Amino acid sequence: MSVLLCAPQVTPSLLMAVGSAVLGSLQFGYNTGVINAPQRVSQTSLWMACAVFQIIESFYNETWLWRFSEPISHPALTALWSLTVAIFPVGGMIGSFSVGLFVNRFGRKNSMLGANVLAVLSAALMGLSQLASSFEMLIVGRFVVGVFCGLCTGFVPMYVEEISPTTLRGALGTLHQLGVVIGILLAQILGLEWLLGSLSLWPVLLSFTVLPALLQCVLLPFCPESPRYLLINCSQESEAHEGRLLDGKNVAEDMQEMREESHRMQQETSVSILELLRTPAYKQPLMVAVMLQLSQQLSGINAVFYYSTGIFEKAGVSQPVYATIGTGVVNTAFTVVSLFVVERVGRRPLHLIGLMGMVHCVSALVCLCSQEQLAWMSYVSIAAIFSFVAFFEIGPGPIPWFIVAELFSQGPRPAAVAVAGFSNWSANFLVGICFQYIEQLCGPFVFIIFTVLLLAFFIFTYFKVPETKGRTFEEISAGFKRINYTDRKIEKQYRETV
Ligand code: GLC
Repeated sequence: MSVLLCAPQVTPSLLMAVGSAVLGSLQFGYNTGVINAPQRVSQTSLWMACAVFQIIESFYNETWLWRFSEPISHPALTALWSLTVAIFPVGGMIGSFSVGLFVNRFGRKNSMLGANVLAVLSAALMGLSQLASSFEMLIVGRFVVGVFCGLCTGFVPMYVEEISPTTLRGALGTLHQLGVVIGILLAQILGLEWLLGSLSLWPVLLSFTVLPALLQCVLLPFCPESPRYLLINCSQESEAHEGRLLDGKNVAEDMQEMREESHRMQQETSVSILELLRTPAYKQPLMVAVMLQLSQQLSGINAVFYYSTGIFEKAGVSQPVYATIGTGVVNTAFTVVSLFVVERVGRRPLHLIGLMGMVHCVSALVCLCSQEQLAWMSYVSIAAIFSFVAFFEIGPGPIPWFIVAELFSQGPRPAAVAVAGFSNWSANFLVGICFQYIEQLCGPFVFIIFTVLLLAFFIFTYFKVPETKGRTFEEISAGFKRINYTDRKIEKQYRETV
């Protein structure tokens, strides 16, 4: 963390603002981790604490019995469980797509603040579902918390990127992912049977989400609004100046950069999603943003998490849930590594290293899992899983979330964040739904699909993704405009020759 704490531009108020915002990221991680199983098919392929999964199932069974005086049928239980799992990313898709509706109307900070209503509502619904003997309340609660998390995945990186000094945007942007992984780890630990993952305490486990929400409501009012939003969207120069979180020298530089951006923005009004999709100038950065989001989800990270418990069991780990917590620890540790190196190495190399590392680990997994099982092989599989997760957190974990805000200037940023977030949540949903069926069909060979996809994303990143490290938002979007101009010139020359 010293990389952040010792940087001259980092003031306590900047750290406080980023810290308060990433409580939203922690919420996303926590609610992802607390119930994260593809479907009620095979108990061995569950990522998270099996206890929580079994306990919620027994709640469904008891409620059914109480209502209809007969035990729930296997298909009905499967359907209810699938709905409980799938409704979360569906909520996330809706939430992430709606980001643009709020951030310009209410501002970045107030949007984050207001979204907490959803966290409190969902905590109440999930926490009281057992008391009310209502699985409907639990399912609706999961949907509401999904919408909330979808909003957070847009609000938080946007706010953090807009308040950060150019030279630290990557490191501070990585804090969003650090919040996510800490949230996952917290859910893994609290979900242990002897903590909150028990028959009597699971409603507390699910409604725990209310605590970070309340904490954020207490802290955010003391944090400044994004100065970029105040100056560029609301033309409030003095407020923007007051709210700038850097030291004196940097404030002047930063204000000048924002003024120039604001000046150019007068020709470019706020951009809707439809305009973003139709405008040729945004085609290139949008493609990069969406592809990076897809590279994160279609890398198979969540599928490997689901699969890991099964591999740990095969390896003879008596309590695979603790090995799963080990995965959470590796996940967190390597996000911290990324935080330290992202400003030195850059986004592009880290994303490329991460993707290539994942290709090797996932190929090793396919080879090992498809062989006749020997004791040592399982341990190598565990090493492959840990390395896969480590490479993910070096680049493909944190970078896609914050780079979207870097690729666009103030006008199109909210729409771009919405489209990119929606692609991420949709791909997350798709992997969660399809993985188990393909796995049943082809066993560990399912990972060949991820190997191919990872290679394709590597090639795309190599040829199309620009480095954004140390460049202002304006310089980055100007770079894309130049590419666009050259593309059009080449196209014109080509048309003239044929
Ligand atoms: C990213 C992904 C999320 C995944 C997590 C794992 O934040 O968006 O789906 O579970 O990383 O660390």
